[in-house]
Amino acid sequence: MNIVVCVSGGGTNLQAIIDAIGNGTITNTEIVGVISNNINAYALKRAEDAGIKAICVSPADYPDREAFNDGLLEAVKDMNPDLVVLAGFLVKIPPQMVAEYRDRIINIHPSLIPSFCGVGYYGLKVHEAALERGVKVTGATVHYVDEGTDTGKIIMQKAVYIEPTDTAETLQKRVMEQAEWIILPQAINMIANKGKV
Ligand code: GAR
Repeated sequence: MNIVVCVSGGGTNLQAIIDAIGNGTITNTEIVGVISNNINAYALKRAEDAGIKAICVSPADYPDREAFNDGLLEAVKDMNPDLVVLAGFLVKIPPQMVAEYRDRIINIHPSLIPSFCGVGYYGLKVHEAALERGVKVTGATVHYVDEGTDTGKIIMQKAVYIEPTDTAETLQKRVMEQAEWIILPQAINMIANKGKV
């Protein structure tokens, strides 16, 4: 299975996928390209270091959102993936891309959906909201991407306990270590070897 990984920032989830392919946790899978909307994303460096083709498709390089959406879809199609993996990609996937890749785009979200998800819930904001609400358990979710925000079919979830001393930063790190970097590679491996889930 050929995958394209879309990123916006640090790329630790991308790194988890690269490592899992390297150590055989993910089989039958090749990363054929990495796309970032942000030229400064450290994820681009991780891709280059791993010898993976990495490109930037930035809204700043297009006259309007529609043109960016077309450019993003073209960039994905050029790489001809079987599966598109959103690994910290903070761009709303355009409807024409959802239609073209129906049930072939997955996303990792840093909470137990349907808690702390939807428009405005991304990155640290998700963990701030969980701490603010006072929940004792959070986690991460891998799900298919549909036209909504974090509304697609759930593939896999893993719970993480919140500690009384947690800050948004310590919680984000633990959710990554104990959930995201585990279930995202697992979900990819499952799709690569068992087809759709
Ligand atoms: C991850 O925590 C990911 O779950 C989150 O952004 C972070 C990216 O980190 N994604 C979202 O919030 C999507 N709504 P990374 O660049 O180090 O993988």
